[in-house]
Amino acid sequence: MASIFAFALCFTISKKTFSQQSGRTIKELRSGWLFIHKDISNGAQNVLDEKDWQKVEIPHDWAISGPFSEENDLQTTKVTEDGDRKAMLRSGRTAGLPYEGVGWYRKHLVFNEQDKGNAFSLEFDGAMSHAKVFLNDKFVGEWPYGYSSFSFDITRFINFGKDNVLAVRLENQVESARWYPGAGLYRNVRLVETSPVHIAHWGTFVTTPKISAALALVKIQTNIETGNGETGKISLETILFNQSNEKVGKNTSIQDIQKNNKFIQEVNISNPQLWSAEHPKLYYAVSKVKKGEQVIDQYRTIFGIRKINFHPQTGMTVNGIPTKLKGVCLHDDLGPLGMAINKSALRYRLKLLKQMGCNAVRGTHNPHAPEMLELCDELGFYYIDEAFDEWKAGKVKNGYHTLFDGWAKKDLEAMIERDRNHPALIMYSIGNEIREQGEKDGAKLTKYLTDICHANDATRPVTAAFNNMDSAIMNGLANAVDIPGWNYKPGFYTLLHQKHPKWIIYGSETASTVSSRGAYKLPAKIGIMKLWPDNQSSAYDLEYCSWSQLPDIEWKKQENDFVAGEFVWTGYDYLGEPTPYNANWPSRSSYFGIIDLSGIPKDRYYLYQSHWSNQKVLHILPHWNWKGHEGEVVPVFVYTNYPSAEVFINGKSYGKKTFDKNSLLDSYRLRWENTIYQPGELKVVAYEKNGKVAETKVIKTAGSPSTIELKSNTTQLSANGEDLAFITVSIKDIYGNLCPLADNVVHFKVTGEGKLRAVGNGNSASLEPFEADYRKAFYGKCMAIIQSGHQTGKVTIEASGVGLKASNLTLEISTK
Ligand code: GAL
Repeated sequence: MASIFAFALCFTISKKTFSQQSGRTIKELRSGWLFIHKDISNGAQNVLDEKDWQKVEIPHDWAISGPFSEENDLQTTKVTEDGDRKAMLRSGRTAGLPYEGVGWYRKHLVFNEQDKGNAFSLEFDGAMSHAKVFLNDKFVGEWPYGYSSFSFDITRFINFGKDNVLAVRLENQVESARWYPGAGLYRNVRLVETSPVHIAHWGTFVTTPKISAALALVKIQTNIETGNGETGKISLETILFNQSNEKVGKNTSIQDIQKNNKFIQEVNISNPQLWSAEHPKLYYAVSKVKKGEQVIDQYRTIFGIRKINFHPQTGMTVNGIPTKLKGVCLHDDLGPLGMAINKSALRYRLKLLKQMGCNAVRGTHNPHAPEMLELCDELGFYYIDEAFDEWKAGKVKNGYHTLFDGWAKKDLEAMIERDRNHPALIMYSIGNEIREQGEKDGAKLTKYLTDICHANDATRPVTAAFNNMDSAIMNGLANAVDIPGWNYKPGFYTLLHQKHPKWIIYGSETASTVSSRGAYKLPAKIGIMKLWPDNQSSAYDLEYCSWSQLPDIEWKKQENDFVAGEFVWTGYDYLGEPTPYNANWPSRSSYFGIIDLSGIPKDRYYLYQSHWSNQKVLHILPHWNWKGHEGEVVPVFVYTNYPSAEVFINGKSYGKKTFDKNSLLDSYRLRWENTIYQPGELKVVAYEKNGKVAETKVIKTAGSPSTIELKSNTTQLSANGEDLAFITVSIKDIYGNLCPLADNVVHFKVTGEGKLRAVGNGNSASLEPFEADYRKAFYGKCMAIIQSGHQTGKVTIEASGVGLKASNLTLEISTK
């Protein structure tokens, strides 16, 4: 890990020097924005009364601060994918947050007279949605799909030496989403200044056509923007570096860019260090454009060298090693932060998944922020880039089908061009559960999109996630992609494999098990679309949807070597789609997550960890506070990868258990269904194969809430104004036992060089705001998220609550 960190650090440092020397300046436009959540006719005018506008920093999600209301985007609709026969109420489908309507952003910019003659462009990593961009009241361009990254050349609109006003109008329609889409300039925006001749936007494409232990052939295609009819020859010098910043190869070519502005160069790297999720070794290319001896542009491309193959019999191999995809699907909201991208939050999330043994992510159901791919490269995750949830046949009234004809090709190309250098990226998904599966000529559209992918990147297979298996096969869609993905079809893997021996089989979406962290329900039994009066799903991990399965069912089928792997729906809870409580306000976020919305693992985390990771796992559930159930059965489950375990209650053994491959629910979990509750001590002892005690875990009946424990994921933040610390808050009794039913309100006070950014607790039915200085504990825990400021020093969080002993915790804020 140390080397990765060093690499990341050096990347930031050198990026600065880079821009100063190279004729390319990249300015992040983070601060100094003004925002208004309403439509105005003259929002782009240079002179405007701005007193009602709110000062904001971007990335900014205008809707996440709430308030929640059932009336926000209340949808009544028939969701055929969920088996609805008629239109039904779907409250909370888009989280009950005010994402709809028009929002304007303005920012004043100054361009120096002496920069006249240079080229300027604006890069948007995404804007939600229907972005219309203006500079000095002139229309620059538009991009309706809120998840796409795009760039506009603004050179001709600039008033040098004067005040310039950049204005962006965004508009979100109701019923345009089936999960929370966020709202606003929720991803980064950059101003890029270059010389007129420069490397085009996303202008490099690095591939590695030949890889052996001794040598890797690296091919670099570079597109040059020729500016205002510049003539003559320029040279392109491409230097390759490894992660330790050692030069490993170089190529220089000279070309007349008027005749051919595309350079193709090849460089050999000897003894290449291969990238994989386990060993994410990276390289980078520095491309220097030179006119004579003068460097007129410089550009950096991170890449990796790896060989990923798919085979119908053996699934996926990475650098020749058979590798199962142990993946999760992720929507791109960041829980309490909403859709506003924050790399540090994403890093927290991915690291937690990595510790679980997860090695893959499917970015559902739209292109995610570029930071997602950067982190998958760096931390080691195989990534599926997904373009669409709808094609021409809509799922929601104002969904992507309204844009498809005019924009699908542009959106798909934007995703591919932006992402195709990432070693993490293993497949392009052209769609999720698209309704064209049911159409006779659905294959035509599938082929059209597959062809676009192949034309822009012939090195990666194209997939789509099919739920409507028979139709997708009958109508030819499954054959019109390279690798058909199957949503919730473990029972058919063998049949598919036999009937279609050339297909590669994987579960693009699996499980959809639902649970609420800490909310154990009795009796502990299987529940399909089970509803409980408190809007929580049982933490015993036995509840799922009418179309889905328990993890155990999927795993049985994943044991087939021909199955390439799975992507669990979902790694984290996300805002919106509160199945099974679709019509039961105040539910407003999902129950599917292995980890809750605030970032605290549910029990299922340890079930996956015991199955997926190499580390030894011993996890026991439920809690041991069952007042009123004394003398009754309270089942005990153990998630472990030790061969056997024994449960004791107050010293009395309930017997040793081993896994039983003939019983579905006992294949991967150990269950004691006769354990009688008495307050005191619940203990599990795990044994090695030879019968030796390997590990012991104890849960005690907790007394009343007495103190607050604060645990941070880090002791240090960097003073970059955006680094985050995730502080898990636990309510404990006087002996330090977690009070598993506590719902105390905890108040936070943050002082020093940071601020409280957001709070959460994983309760999918809570209407408390995420931006507040208090939070109720949910089953004993909640989360406070602290954000660093721009000054070095310290930041202290104090947590207090009625009847509780207050606590505090201090973090260092160090240099960037
Ligand atoms: C799938 C769909 C996902 C989500 C999931 C819930 O059908 O692709 O977006 O809705 O069901 O189980």
